[in-house]
Amino acid sequence: MSILVTGGAGYIGSHTVVELQNAGYDVIVCDNLCNSSKKSLERVEQITGQPVKFYLADILDADALTKIFEENTIDSVIHFAGLKAVGESVAKPWEYYNNNITGTLVLVDVMKKFGCKNIIFSSSATVYGDPAFIPITEECPKGQCTNPYGWTKSMLEQILTDIQKADKEWNVVLLRYFNPIGAHKSGLIGENPNGTPNNLMPYVTQVAVGKRPHLSVFGDDYDTHDGTGVRDYIHGVDLAKGHVAAVKKLAEKAGLKLYNLGTGNGYSVLDIVKNFEAATGVKIPYVITERRPGDIATCYSNADLALAELGWKAENGIKEMCEDSWRWQKMNPNGFED
Ligand code: NAD
Ligand code: WQD
Repeated sequence: MSILVTGGAGYIGSHTVVELQNAGYDVIVCDNLCNSSKKSLERVEQITGQPVKFYLADILDADALTKIFEENTIDSVIHFAGLKAVGESVAKPWEYYNNNITGTLVLVDVMKKFGCKNIIFSSSATVYGDPAFIPITEECPKGQCTNPYGWTKSMLEQILTDIQKADKEWNVVLLRYFNPIGAHKSGLIGENPNGTPNNLMPYVTQVAVGKRPHLSVFGDDYDTHDGTGVRDYIHGVDLAKGHVAAVKKLAEKAGLKLYNLGTGNGYSVLDIVKNFEAATGVKIPYVITERRPGDIATCYSNADLALAELGWKAENGIKEMCEDSWRWQKMNPNGFED
């Protein structure tokens, strides 16, 4: 019995492949490498000492997916494959809806043909929009997304929910990630953004390594303790372990399940700068600029349900997240191009 990991060469996917292999699962990766490098999987092999079976395949390609299911006995799918750049999704909505939504529909159709009805889906705290309350529990209503990327997550949650409702043989776990940062302790795998990073931590590490002169802090007039945006940063390895816990939930034939994966702690942009400096000894020059359109003041989770039902909680604190992000950046200043 194997687990198919779509998007397994990417940031969260590669960390999850490590934890799955460490936990003894047989893993198959399918990725079209549109936002990743095959080198990440070579690094995974280096970390775990086990080979990773890889298919260079697009989830939009039903024939390619069919071949994977014909050649392997796949029990469950962890579905990471998708485009994720918020700004790009505003400029290219069709590409995002097609890749993320059509891609998932094609994947689910092939799964069904092979009687594989177990799926874990990468959703996002972005589906809460400007959250109705803080800390955010799973009871918090979904909100208005501010970009097509967010809508793909919100719509895919609904699509998978409806599929499970109509056919109770399906087991669906929707995981809403908060803000993943950090990297594997080895420094061998980590987040490898193309071009200018959109997210805070990769930007901070690129300033630290001297690739960018300073950080722009997007607004200091939010209603937060220091005026800058507050988020729930979660270590990529903890997130990966959350998926291993979710695989066990699938095996219980749990039906439809939905969990926040966060730490329950909120840190502001300036808290991140200070903690990064304290953890690494590297100074991060910054300037305060305008708010970024679409940003909200505060977003952090209540992650009690994942603890109660999955037996999972995040283990790494902000110090480890900063140290590990920095180790990855320092060892790989140009990502996997080195
Ligand atoms: P990533 O870009 O590093 O990984 C996604 C992978 O999917 C990449 O390797 C990419 O090449 C692959 N991919 C994209 N479209 C594909 C297609 N059509 N066929 C096959 N492969 C395809 O991103 P990540 O940060 O690892 O995110 C993984 C998942 O988690 C995504 O679905 C993302 O939307 C979701 N998510 C990410 C975050 C975050 O902040 N990183 C937060 C919440 C949710
Ligand atoms: C965090 C904080 C910024 C960069 C995004 C997506 C979300 C999810 C995670 C996928 C905010 C501030 C940032 C910078 C800054 N992805 N910031 N200067 O916006 O919470 O979430 O990634 O699902 O969908 O929207 O994360 O890392 O971009 O920003 O001041 O150069 O850092 O304003 O307060 P965000 P982020």
